Amino acid sequence: MRITETLSPDTAGLNRAAELLRDGELVAFPTETVYGLGGDARSDRAVARIYEAKGRPRFNPLIVHLPDVAAARALARFDDRAERLAAAFWPGPLTLVLPLRPGSGLSPFVTAELPTVALRVPAHPVARALLRTYGGPLAAPSANPSGRVSPTRAEHVLDGLSGRIAGLVDGGACAVGVESTIVGLDGPAQLLRPGGVPVEAIEAVLGEPLGAGGSTTKPTAPGQLASHYAPGATVRLGAAAALADEVWIGFGPECGGADLTLSATGDLVEAAANLFHLLREADRLAGPGGRIAIAPIPETGLGRAINDRLRRAAAPRP
Ligand code: TXA
Ligand code: MG
Repeated sequence: MRITETLSPDTAGLNRAAELLRDGELVAFPTETVYGLGGDARSDRAVARIYEAKGRPRFNPLIVHLPDVAAARALARFDDRAERLAAAFWPGPLTLVLPLRPGSGLSPFVTAELPTVALRVPAHPVARALLRTYGGPLAAPSANPSGRVSPTRAEHVLDGLSGRIAGLVDGGACAVGVESTIVGLDGPAQLLRPGGVPVEAIEAVLGEPLGAGGSTTKPTAPGQLASHYAPGATVRLGAAAALADEVWIGFGPECGGADLTLSATGDLVEAAANLFHLLREADRLAGPGGRIAIAPIPETGLGRAINDRLRRAAAPRP
């Protein structure tokens, strides 16, 4: 057990974070979606430490974070569809799965030895500043123990990983609140995970519908495992009202009696930003063996990503 250094997002803090990363250590940092658990994507040792700190199955590959599209093109082959999506949504909450270039220099552990790699250029100013200061690609899964609720605040990271990682850059609350949308482009365009960029916006740029990628039995994305994002309490979905022993998370003006609300006005962007924090709050209020009920959320825009995470939070645990 070691003490995790909490760093401020200023020059001194970012220099210290870069120093730790150069030593092959892990540093959590804010992105616009959730906090990432960063390690040098070229270092077998750093990447092995990421899997170990999270308790993550090694068949689940990691996303590589880069400062710009030029750095991304050096690692993977971009076709016309990839160029258009990158131009439209980077920097931002979109991850592209593309054919890996031979000689990319990435650790084979990052891709779990697949012939493809997941790349993303984050928009958060602290993530961008860290990538510039460090000057290398950062592998970064969400900074939580595997299978648990993702972190959208620095204190969430410490709840799950304190003492297991060298550093944490505190950049406050994440604005988007759900992970990036993952699109597979090593064949017909596939939605591998709904996320911070609505599917409708991606399809508008591609000019064609996304195929439904992924399976829960043979996951190419761990977010595709049936039980994921799991709080301690059991979760009931589509709850228009709560039972006596349930903590009720509401959405919209009809849920005035709720204990907590994702958005009182029914705003899906606000609901996504609040989602993981409120799941943690509800879990705390419900207590050990408790129950959480969650109001119905429309399946449009960011509602798709929210419902995806909620279905996994409610799924039977292995
Ligand atoms: O918003 C996000 O994407 C956050 C922040 C930190 O950037 N990161 C994140 O990472 O959600 P993680 O590890 O929790 O999810 C990465 C997803 C996994 O579902 C993984 O299986 C998928 O990306 N993935 C990575 N490489 C892949 C590949 N070559 N093919 C298919 N899926 C891949
Ligand atoms: Mg995750």
